[in-house]
Amino acid sequence: MSDIEKLKSELKKLLIEYAKIKELPPAERGAFGKQMNQQKQAILQRLTAAEAEQESAEIEEIDFTAPCAPNEPIPQIKRGTKHPLMTELDKVIEIYNRMGFDVMESRQLDDEFHMFESLNFPKDHPARDGYDTFRTGEGYIPPAHTSTMQHRALLKYQPELERDGQIAVVIPGRVFRNEDADATHEHTFYQCEGVFVSKDATMGQMFGVLKQFFEYYYGQKLKIKTQPGYFPFTEPSAELLIEKPAALGGKGGDWLEMLGCGMIHPNVLKKAGIDPDRYQGFAWGGGIDRLVILKYGLSDIRYFESAKLDFLEEF
Ligand code: DAH
Repeated sequence: MSDIEKLKSELKKLLIEYAKIKELPPAERGAFGKQMNQQKQAILQRLTAAEAEQESAEIEEIDFTAPCAPNEPIPQIKRGTKHPLMTELDKVIEIYNRMGFDVMESRQLDDEFHMFESLNFPKDHPARDGYDTFRTGEGYIPPAHTSTMQHRALLKYQPELERDGQIAVVIPGRVFRNEDADATHEHTFYQCEGVFVSKDATMGQMFGVLKQFFEYYYGQKLKIKTQPGYFPFTEPSAELLIEKPAALGGKGGDWLEMLGCGMIHPNVLKKAGIDPDRYQGFAWGGGIDRLVILKYGLSDIRYFESAKLDFLEEF
């Protein structure tokens, strides 16, 4: 039994003893009570001292400045790291920020209106099938491209358009397609959308912005070319290609398709309450995974979602 326990049981005994006061003749009670009380105070004092002693015995002094206990191996802490795609996405955003673009967040569940109607996809048009959309039981759509955010971006930044004369925003996001995965296709990947609107936006301006972006990202001069494309939400539409630079293993003449782009269709502007007679805009969207694969000379896009630690830890 510890000192503290002993003292507590003494105290208990004393209280039982004290109850006998009722059996004493009244004349003796005062002296008895006084004596009991003195004993009680004495025990309580010892109890407080014992408790304080125990408490201080529990505190072990630690030298916080010591690097490690001598002779003990230094503990190897394995830390998680940021996913390479997120690291690269941060770089992408930083470049666009420096070029004057705001950033807006996409979402992982969207609807029919933002996926198709707002983007000028005619009802029952075969172009809708080109996007291999997933659907939830409730009829929601995990976005098949970040263009689903265009309408929201136009609405959100409309006051800015009236005030500053332009909208400039990029929207990164995760997208989903119901297709078989192979080395260059994933069912889940990342895209970054860009939207620019002003009184006099042109295709030339757009290619200038995009060339600039790619040159910043790859840290070197690049050649770009375009080819015609088709998207219901742009007119004219184009695909932008860059020549694989020698520093990244290009042999000259290897053209890589990097993104889709075009002048925002007047119907898309109108749906967001922007008058296409006063304003015009351009927009683009392309895969982040693809961007990163080229930068690091990777062969398989599926590694990004694979949770293969030996691959991910290389970054
Ligand atoms: N959303 C298209 C896709 O994923 C790419 C794209 C094309 C985005 C043209 C745009 C655009 O903003 O204007 O295939």
